[in-house]
Amino acid sequence: MKKIFVNGYGSIGSRITSFLKDDHELEVIGVGKYSPDEKVKIANSRGLDVYVPEQKLSAFSGYKIKGTIESVLGSCDLVIDATTEGQGYKNKKNLYEPKNIPAIYQGGESIVGTKAVSDLLFNSRSNYDLAVGKKHVMQGSCNVTGMGRILEPLRDKFGDELIRFDVTLIRRWADVEQTEKIIPDTIEMTQSPHHGDDVKTYFGKDSPLFVRAIKVPTRQMHLHIMDIRFKNIAPRPSNIHEIYTNEFGVATLWTAKGTKDVRDYAENIGFNFTDTNMIHIHANMTTSIGDTVQMMYSDDQTGIVIPENHMLLQAMIFERSYRDAFEHTESIFHMREKKQKLEEHFSKKD
Ligand SMILES: NC(=O)c1ccc[n+]([C@@H]2O[C@H](COP(=O)([O-])OP(=O)(O)OC[C@H]3O[C@@H](n4cnc5c(N)ncnc54)[C@H](OP(=O)(O)O)[C@@H]3O)[C@@H](O)[C@H]2O)c1
Repeated sequence: MKKIFVNGYGSIGSRITSFLKDDHELEVIGVGKYSPDEKVKIANSRGLDVYVPEQKLSAFSGYKIKGTIESVLGSCDLVIDATTEGQGYKNKKNLYEPKNIPAIYQGGESIVGTKAVSDLLFNSRSNYDLAVGKKHVMQGSCNVTGMGRILEPLRDKFGDELIRFDVTLIRRWADVEQTEKIIPDTIEMTQSPHHGDDVKTYFGKDSPLFVRAIKVPTRQMHLHIMDIRFKNIAPRPSNIHEIYTNEFGVATLWTAKGTKDVRDYAENIGFNFTDTNMIHIHANMTTSIGDTVQMMYSDDQTGIVIPENHMLLQAMIFERSYRDAFEHTESIFHMREKKQKLEEHFSKKD
């Protein structure tokens, strides 16, 4: 049984921990916390041991703490770092590398420049094999993961027929449970978004992909608006939708009026954390005009990267084949069943 430490217990860390507890091949030996707050008690109530930085021990005197992050690292096989943007790099340098411990980093880090945590940005659909046996790998962010799930199947099917992708990312402001974050009444422009360059690390650095991004005041998922240009006349919407029929983590929905409809359904049906763990093509919005297909899909910001982290850890510490890792992840996340339920509920009504 492999021992995993999850450093950071926020939106991503708490989700990862919850799913890993269902995997009988793994033991979550604890979670890392940095602020002495209610989340320590929540973690304890879920049966988790909490570890804190040595220098902050005294600040946690009123809480049940198992030990220091520095000490627990000696007894784990892999760390999943789910700390705030940029902190993963510092942890790599100060903690994981000196102790020679493999680590997964999240999408707020980088794989280029002086603060790169790895030279590999993982996307299970396109580069699973490159992560096998590797020690430090970054999981792509939610938007970067979502774009891969649309782009890779398009390229597999249409290849040289594709000449350009223009994507507008409409990003959510905060996560559902981040109630302390105030949502301002504005639409924020994101200068030089990292998402296009991140996708190109696995899709090809010269790929004709152009991404722009804005942030809007909602907690209910991201929405991507994508225009796909073809060399000749574009395929019909039905030809586009059919390539996602058997794709992992892509549901094709017809009747969701907005992203909250999808989240509400996930909540009603009892999906963990109200996550779908996937992207949702809003099929009623797909059009084909001349040489261009226009489409929209929403991206479950918090959920989509959780099965990806599970795939990634299997490549890194079990060195499994893609097929074996995929089936094992499926047995824990039940993605086929979730997809089927979503597609049935939001099916086309003639
Ligand atoms: N939220 C999403 O939708 C999403 C999706 C994909 C990827 N990501 C990426 O996942 C990572 C984590 O994001 P998140 O949304 O889970 O963030 P979050 O909810 O803010 O949680 C961050 C965690 O990092 C800990 N932390 C805060 N300051 C720290 C410090 N100085 N040193 C070490 N740890 C510190 C926090 O501990 P305390 O609570 O104890 O302060 C908290 O447990 C980021 O790289 C983000 O870009 C997020």
